[in-house]
Amino acid sequence: HRKYRATPAIVMPDRQWPNNTITQAPQWCSVDLRDGNQALVEPMTVQQKLRMWDLLVKMGFTQIEVGFPAASQPDFDFVRALIDGDRIPDNVTIQVLTQAREELIARSYEALKGAKQAIVHVYNSTSPVQRERVFSLDRDGIKAIAVQGARWVKEYAARNPETSWSFQYSPESFSSTEVDFAVEVSDAVIAEWLDTGAPIIINLPATVECTSPNVFADQVEWFCRHTQFRNNISVSVHTHNDRGCGVAAGELAVMAGADRVEGTLLGNGERTGNMDIVTMAMNLYSQGVNPELNLADMDEIIAVVEHCTTIPLHPRHPYAGELVFTAFSGSHQDAIRKCLAKQGQDEHWQVAYLPIDPADLGRSYEAVIRINSQSGKGGVSWVLENDYGLQLPRWLQIDASRAVQAKAEEIAGEVSAKQIWELFDEHYLQAA
Ligand code: KIV
Ligand code: ZN
Repeated sequence: HRKYRATPAIVMPDRQWPNNTITQAPQWCSVDLRDGNQALVEPMTVQQKLRMWDLLVKMGFTQIEVGFPAASQPDFDFVRALIDGDRIPDNVTIQVLTQAREELIARSYEALKGAKQAIVHVYNSTSPVQRERVFSLDRDGIKAIAVQGARWVKEYAARNPETSWSFQYSPESFSSTEVDFAVEVSDAVIAEWLDTGAPIIINLPATVECTSPNVFADQVEWFCRHTQFRNNISVSVHTHNDRGCGVAAGELAVMAGADRVEGTLLGNGERTGNMDIVTMAMNLYSQGVNPELNLADMDEIIAVVEHCTTIPLHPRHPYAGELVFTAFSGSHQDAIRKCLAKQGQDEHWQVAYLPIDPADLGRSYEAVIRINSQSGKGGVSWVLENDYGLQLPRWLQIDASRAVQAKAEEIAGEVSAKQIWELFDEHYLQAA
């Protein structure tokens, strides 16, 4: 993957750009079918869930949280449909969420019966607000819930030895929890599970994003340095986007030591959404890091997400929106045209205003340059050359672009390639 490279170090007079970039993709876990689904006005139907599932598998996700089957009959039925329908490839592990209550844990294992491998994800909330105002419990009371939950998870796993189990614990509201307490509770949970030999994931959520992303990363780093069991566990993060920094928090958390990231496609999820895995993965890709996910057919990803969530994608959504590889301004168009003409096949991508090659996402260059009253001669000449094979001399480029600009002002909008051709034909060919 040599087309892209890390942004070269920016040397400042008194300081070197710190060498904290991500050099390897984290493990990804999609929570589209759980956190994403629970936030929808109309939760997905089984058909929609299956369509989302097929896309996630096709994209290469190997860990997929499929629901909260003990809390919802449709989620239970969906998990059964995956297992009974033999729809889970051998390299994919499904994950289900449960609270730390025995009847819910028992029902989760019922939903998972017969799965080849599965992650049981148990959570309880640990922050002071949750402790004091929601549960009316002190630290010991909250820790006891987590430890008891871990015991039940272990007991029920032992009763179902035909499945290869992994265990996950989330101190929900981790980002608002005192770090020493988050470590204390998580370590107590890990100590319960250690003798099983099962893989253990500790998932650190920014349930509500309430700090800047560097602070969350500091919390993750502190956790990694102070847990007694760093070598026995995977550290996962689960960020939300309340301050608009869900992806930044995920990236900084990986730089701070996290191994795994939970999120959703294009950022669906509670309130302002979960962190957007597409954006984070593309950020890695554009820096020359293999994201270990297939994002080559962005239009298909958008179509499935829009179908399943019934939420339209913003046209300026990073990497995916319909306007993100489009330039209307004349100077941008001119620069893009010059760079594209000089871009060699085997060279690193070096095109001004285009952080990546739109073709890598299944988009075409034609869509890049669009014409309105902001566009100059560069864009008009590009369209005439690219779409109609006409190479104009400079004087004619200037003259033709004036005519097109006048048209754009008249209609107060975009002028299509066909309209540009018609104007050219009318002004120059028919007049000749
Ligand atoms: O946001 C959150 O804290 C969650 C947990 C259940 C992991 O979704
Ligand atoms: Zn969440």
